Parts: sequence; structure tokens; C-alpha cells
Amino acid sequence: MLLLTGATGSVGRALLRRLTATAEPVRCLVRDPRGLGSDRVRVQIALGDLADPPSFRNAMRGVTTVVHLAAAIRDQPAGSIEELNGIATWRMVRAAERAGVQHFVFMSSVAAARHDRTRFLRAKALAETAVLASDVRHTVLAPSMIYAPGDMFITLLERMARLLPVMPVSGRGQALYQPIWAEDVADCVMAALAATPGQFGSGNGHARFELAGPQTLSYEQIVELVLRAAGRTRRIVNVPTPLTSRALRVVEALMMSRAPATWDEAELLEVSMLSKIGTADAAGLGVTPRAMGEVLGA
Ligand SMILES: NC(=O)c1ccc[n+]([C@@H]2O[C@H](COP(=O)([O-])OP(=O)(O)OC[C@H]3O[C@@H](n4cnc5c(N)ncnc54)[C@H](OP(=O)(O)O)[C@@H]3O)[C@@H](O)[C@H]2O)c1
Repeated sequence: MLLLTGATGSVGRALLRRLTATAEPVRCLVRDPRGLGSDRVRVQIALGDLADPPSFRNAMRGVTTVVHLAAAIRDQPAGSIEELNGIATWRMVRAAERAGVQHFVFMSSVAAARHDRTRFLRAKALAETAVLASDVRHTVLAPSMIYAPGDMFITLLERMARLLPVMPVSGRGQALYQPIWAEDVADCVMAALAATPGQFGSGNGHARFELAGPQTLSYEQIVELVLRAAGRTRRIVNVPTPLTSRALRVVEALMMSRAPATWDEAELLEVSMLSKIGTADAAGLGVTPRAMGEVLGA
């Protein structure tokens, strides 16, 4: 039995399609099974929440492999960014050890760092430390920016382009990314799952892969590309970081969880997420990531 968290997300949906085509039974830890779409009839469902440790301890029964994708880039009513990403992953690893799980696959970020300016990347670094310290065989996947047509990020940009005469970009928009398509990430996860212990990484079966797309693009170039794909022409206007931060904090205070964007999310678009080895790890897994313009049809 394989336990998948984050099955309703961009990578999760792409991965679940691949997993349900294999013989291994899949259990999905979800807050709301409707997010699984038609795949919900092909999997076992464990209702649960990263903020509710007993829910994922129960979901771990009889599980040999965990793929932990669930994450939150904004605070939720039941837990902060630190709790949902850092502490929940630590707890999930402990639960996996107790349940006798044989392989724990964790999606980190290539930019995870203990002293990063963003809360999310600091929390991911803590989570990664917990995974790396575990004796359970583990695979860490550390991607740059992940995108998929119709995901929340691209949908938000398209909506802004429809509603606004100009396209606001927080700060200088010069942070650099190697965007990788969620479908390519899912192929990498499948390859990592199929690997025999010790095939990659150290002899003890632990491995870490950096996942990057073939191009290095600034945030501003990514916005231009999404606009082109959507058939819109908008002038990009750089909004000073302190102004964006203040404005989004006000929006969040007023709209709470309905806020279209939060400062914690916007700040992530001011931090470069680069792998020095580019597509090498993906290639090692037998995957050739496609360029963003090609995927979006720009
Ligand atoms: N997207 C990127 O640019 C990027 C970059 C680096 C690393 N990553 C990492 O890659 C992984 C997959 O990313 P993604 O883009 O596929 O993520 P995503 O589309 O944002 O999906 C997040 C998933 O986490 C689930 N989730 C959120 N809060 C939860 C909670 N409290 N309890 C249980 N589940 C919860 C969501 O479920 P609901 O349907 O219930 O909301 C959803 O399935 C994540 O670990 C992410 O941090 C992503």
C-alpha cells in the first residue's frame, strides 16, 4: 500500500493518474475527497489534515511507501506555515518509522534553507532535516518552481491580466527560476519509486534529486510568458516590495482565507530557486523536462 498526501495538488493529480495505472493499491490522505475527481473511485480515501496528527498516523496502517507532497504556502485556520510544512513532516516521518514504512518520499524545495527570508522555505528546510535524519529509506525531491496549465498561480496571473490594465509585479521581478512542469515532476517521482535501494545516492538507499526545467527565467519573464500564452499584452509595473507587503497584509486581514494572494505567497516570487546542476538529476531519472513556453503554448 502506498500513501499519497497532496493528491489533489498539481503534482499530486499528475502522479495519481500514473499510480492508479500500476498494480500497487493507493491510499490518499485528503481533506476533501471531491478534489480527487474521478480518481476517487480508484483509491482508498483517508480523511485527514496536516494539522491533525492522529489522522495521518491512522492513514499509515499497512503502508509500505509514503509519498508526502501536501504542503501549504499560506497559514490556514488549523495551522501555520511552520506547523503544516515543518512540524507536520517531522510528525509524519515519526509515524512512518513506527508504522514500519520502507520508503518515504518527500517533496522539498531546491531553495529550502534554514535562514531564508521566507517562512515557507525555512519550514521546508526543517522538514527536510527531519526526513534526512530518519533511518527509514528516504528520497528527497527538491524542485525549482513547479507549474501546470490551470494551476492556481497561472490562473491568478490570467485573472489579473483580464481585470487589470497593467500587470503588477512585486519588487524588481528578477528572482530566477527553472520552472518544471508538474507532469515532468510526476514522471520523476515514478522513476524514484521504481528505483532499487542504492541505485541512486548513497549505498544506504537514501537519495536526493534536484528537479529543474531546461530554462532559467526571471519572474518577470515567466509573467511575460504566461501573458503571451493567454493572448494578453500588459505592461509590467514593478511595485516596491514594502508596498506589496503592506497591501497584501491588509487584503489578508480583511478577506482572511478568501484572500486571492497573501504576502507569504508573493514573497516566494522574490526568492531565486535554482539548481546548479539544472536538468541533470531529472535526466538521471530518465526524464527530459519540457520548456515552459512549449507546455503553455506561448
Ligand atoms: N508549486 C511549486 O512551485 C513548488 C516549488 C517547490 C516545491 N513544491 C512542493 O511540491 C509539492 C507539490 O506541490 P504542488 O504545486 O503540487 O502543490 P499544490 O498544488 O499547492 O497542492 C498542495 C496539496 O497539499 C494539500 N494540502 C494543503 N494543506 C493541507 C492540509 N492542511 N492537510 C492536508 N493536505 C493539505 C492540498 O490539498 P487540498 O486540496 O485539501 O487543498 C493539495 O493537495 C509540495 O510539497 C510543494 O511544497 C512546489
